Amino acid sequence: MMRWSNPLVSAVATPPVAAAQGWIRGRSFPEEKPLLDLAQAVPSYLPAEALRRRVAEAANEPETSLYSDILGAAALRARFARHLSGEYAARVEAGNVAITSGCNQAYCVAVCALAGPGDEVILPVPYYFNHDMWLRMQGIVPVYLPFDPRHPGRLRLDALREALTPRTRALVLVSPANPTGAEYPSADIEAAHEMLRGRGASLVIDETYKDFRAGSGPPHMLMASGAHQDAGLVQLFSFSKAYSMAGYRVGAIACNAGLLAEIEKLLDCVAICPARISQAAALFALEHLNEWREAKSRLMRERVGLLREHFARSNLGYQLVSCGAYFAYVRHPFGGTASLEVARRLADRQNILCLPGSFFGPGQDDYLRFAFANVESDCFEALIDRLRASQSEG
Ligand SMILES: Cc1ncc(COP(=O)(O)O)c(C=O)c1O
Repeated sequence: MMRWSNPLVSAVATPPVAAAQGWIRGRSFPEEKPLLDLAQAVPSYLPAEALRRRVAEAANEPETSLYSDILGAAALRARFARHLSGEYAARVEAGNVAITSGCNQAYCVAVCALAGPGDEVILPVPYYFNHDMWLRMQGIVPVYLPFDPRHPGRLRLDALREALTPRTRALVLVSPANPTGAEYPSADIEAAHEMLRGRGASLVIDETYKDFRAGSGPPHMLMASGAHQDAGLVQLFSFSKAYSMAGYRVGAIACNAGLLAEIEKLLDCVAICPARISQAAALFALEHLNEWREAKSRLMRERVGLLREHFARSNLGYQLVSCGAYFAYVRHPFGGTASLEVARRLADRQNILCLPGSFFGPGQDDYLRFAFANVESDCFEALIDRLRASQSEG
């Protein structure tokens, strides 16, 4: 038999969000029961008006149509390094920073620079599905840390120790996490880094949602202690959520300069450089949109509080297991029924689009992910009412 495609790629399922969007394709929704789209993590608001004006202006600047340096325009790298220095009480230099076409690309190139076929990368479950997909397509073996729903924001250090082998290249943490919204305590992050370093492996930490944390101050002290300058720490960021710039495709990596030189080879091949006009937007965001970003962060925290209240007082069969940043991770009341079937029923009968737990790893069939960032909080009551109505349909 002829083989037309890479079996490693063919073995990976359809992109999850696209699969869920396919469930409602071609459907229209009545005014009295509109679609509640809680599938993809995109903020419900536009970028700041001033940023949009800056983009229009940048379109007329001659350098916008040129490539930048592979690792990003010097001014943006320097400004982002300054941003990280402030946020993490650290000294981050431009030479430790790369700008990428989104955080997903940052993750893909970082992983390729760290690991090859047959190597192992550890992911706590539930994981961000693209992280797992990419490992599999590269022939890297994902090794899973089990989920403890009683402590969704804790890292099981004993389980991590047991999972380490001579083939371990990295542990990937997402904090606040997708899909649970939970934040790892800084002590867990630092202890994991220490344990990995002792084994010649790296901590890759995706902090896409760092601006939507419940607390203030640095999320961990690894950069303050200079870990980004040694091998062993790779920090990833996204401009998609903090500045509502998902379509602009800007992300970043902070790590050791030697690893960055490896990453540069990968970035050169996949995109040459991030879109120049988007880099102009990101620079503007860092320079001018601090207050805007903080206001949106407050807005999201309010939504977290409201959603918790709604679940607490509604006595639903659906149980809020974890909630933070953009996400609510919910145990559905149909134990034994696949989460995919539950999610499809919610789409078909209740006009609620959410993602099944099974998209986020093994053993997640009792759960659903609701990306509440996508909708205004005045939809929460309707969400609860429809979830209640769904309970009699089991
Ligand atoms: C944990 C995590 N990392 C990365 C991304 C993608 O970020 P970007 O749009 O910058 O590629 C997402 C988007 O949902 C995410 O949840």
